[in-house]
Amino acid sequence: MLPPGHRVVVSELGSDPLDAIERLTSLVPQPAPDVATLAPHDVIVAVTSASVGWVDLIMTSGQYQHAPKPPYTPGLEYAGRVAGVGSAVTHVTIGDAVLVDPFLAGPRSLGAYQQYGGFATYAVAPAEAVLPLPGSLTCDQACNLLGNYETAYHCLVVRGRLKAGETVLIHGAAGATGLAAVHLAKLLGATVIASGRSDAKLAVVRAQGADHIVNTASLDGLRDAVRAIAPNGVDVVYDGVGGDISVASLRCVAFGARYLIVGWAATPFVSQGKGQRGAPNANQLPTNLIMMKGLDVLGCPTVISSVQDPTLRPPRLAQILAWAASGAITPHVSNTYPLTDFKAAMLAKWRGEVIGGAVLHPA
Ligand SMILES: NC(=O)c1ccc[n+]([C@@H]2O[C@H](COP(=O)([O-])OP(=O)(O)OC[C@H]3O[C@@H](n4cnc5c(N)ncnc54)[C@H](OP(=O)(O)O)[C@@H]3O)[C@@H](O)[C@H]2O)c1
Repeated sequence: MLPPGHRVVVSELGSDPLDAIERLTSLVPQPAPDVATLAPHDVIVAVTSASVGWVDLIMTSGQYQHAPKPPYTPGLEYAGRVAGVGSAVTHVTIGDAVLVDPFLAGPRSLGAYQQYGGFATYAVAPAEAVLPLPGSLTCDQACNLLGNYETAYHCLVVRGRLKAGETVLIHGAAGATGLAAVHLAKLLGATVIASGRSDAKLAVVRAQGADHIVNTASLDGLRDAVRAIAPNGVDVVYDGVGGDISVASLRCVAFGARYLIVGWAATPFVSQGKGQRGAPNANQLPTNLIMMKGLDVLGCPTVISSVQDPTLRPPRLAQILAWAASGAITPHVSNTYPLTDFKAAMLAKWRGEVIGGAVLHPA
């Protein structure tokens, strides 16, 4: 018998993430899953580390495209130790350190395992979602691997066709997906110009591999700063920030550049809260600049693209796991918290106080 634990529950969708974090999330007792009644292919994971991602935040208000029905436990991506296995599970055994594939289990998945988020002592996942930790990754690093690096891969490699010798401008580079994009772009042999609003965070991004950093707290100097590094403009823009910076960036590009729409961290309220559909405040880009600069503006929804075209994921997943196993990529984690401090962790992520990953420790 496993001892009981605790889990975070979102009781209903908030009008925005702050409303949800402050009023509608709580830590409640969690009975341990019963090993005796596990389905043959199920695995119980005692969660060691759960990533606190931007998507976890906007999911609490239904402002993400995919919304589990409340009450649910947040935590798209988590890692831990195997605490129980069903009768048909052979590839892992009790005590193994594992990460759980967020596409196949947890609140971003579809179906039976959606209820088991990582902000909990225990989660249950199907065997195919449970992967041994690659290489020497810790659980804190592993729970920041797949979502971030698969996104960066889909954007830069599949959509952006980024090549060695090209220059890429990465916005939100201190963020979880942004820093993964910095790591991948350097692996691909590109020159990286990383942007962000804080010199202190940008210093870390520089230490993580960016060739150049540009402070975008004011956008006035963005064009000149980028043109001083890349006189003809950049070949690729990785834009996970959106809003004003997107429009300013159209003056930083080479003719024929690829403009990757990754997300809009600066304008999270493009859609309405409480899970209402529609995006009345959607960002807009000027068509004159797109036309005159011959831009390819490319939408890059990683999960949706992979559902539409199931051939996309297997090579991407294999490559990310291989790079992690060889030590070529290592997720950066700046903040860790005990599970009891889940609100502080979520607020730190919301306020942009995190570089790369923030992690909750249920155990
Ligand atoms: N395309 C996909 O499949 C995919 C997958 C995952 C996430 N996303 C989206 O990509 C975006 C970034 O995700 P993430 O996980 O990297 O988020 P994150 O870790 O929170 O990073 C976002 C970064 O954006 C920067 N930023 C600039 N202006 C901001 C503002 N006004 N408010 C908040 N942040 C601001 C911040 O950097 P500074 O503080 O340094 O400026 C921050 O580090 C989100 O919109 C997310 O939904 C897309």
